[in-house]
Amino acid sequence: MSESLLVSGKTKKEKYQSLLPQVSALVEGEKDFIANISNIIAALKYGMDFFWLGIYFVKGNELVLGPFQGPVACTRIALGKGVCGTAWKEKRTMVVEDVDKFPGHIACSSDSRSEIVIPCFKKGEVFAVLDVDSDKLNDFDETDKKYLEELGKIISQLAD
Ligand code: SME
Repeated sequence: MSESLLVSGKTKKEKYQSLLPQVSALVEGEKDFIANISNIIAALKYGMDFFWLGIYFVKGNELVLGPFQGPVACTRIALGKGVCGTAWKEKRTMVVEDVDKFPGHIACSSDSRSEIVIPCFKKGEVFAVLDVDSDKLNDFDETDKKYLEELGKIISQLAD
């Protein structure tokens, strides 16, 4: 396991490109899923300077909060509710430029302004969603979608 991260690059794309291989190295040789997810979440939080980042796991008919970094968050979200429940139900990444304009957005923090949620798949079914919140409006774009979906695939492989 790598013990420290060095994020190089100025642009968002360069930072993701520097960080993702390190994320893979970080979990190498460790089999415990929660330990690995916890480290991945911390690496992304500090590497990308996200406001809030965490994972929710599908448990029955709701999502339940897993490892996260940032302010305390709501613990359970029903299928189809909020941005997370919608990403789960529709099995697609949701990019929300302005959370106040997303009907049914669940405000865990009043400082959250924009959000991206990536579903993670196991055998074609969503087993978790990765949620990233920003305290700035319109903070997520196609670059975040591309690299966070890559991260979602790394998480899916770890869950096998
Ligand atoms: N805003 C999310 C809820 C989770 S928090 O942002 C951490 C939603 O609408 O699903």
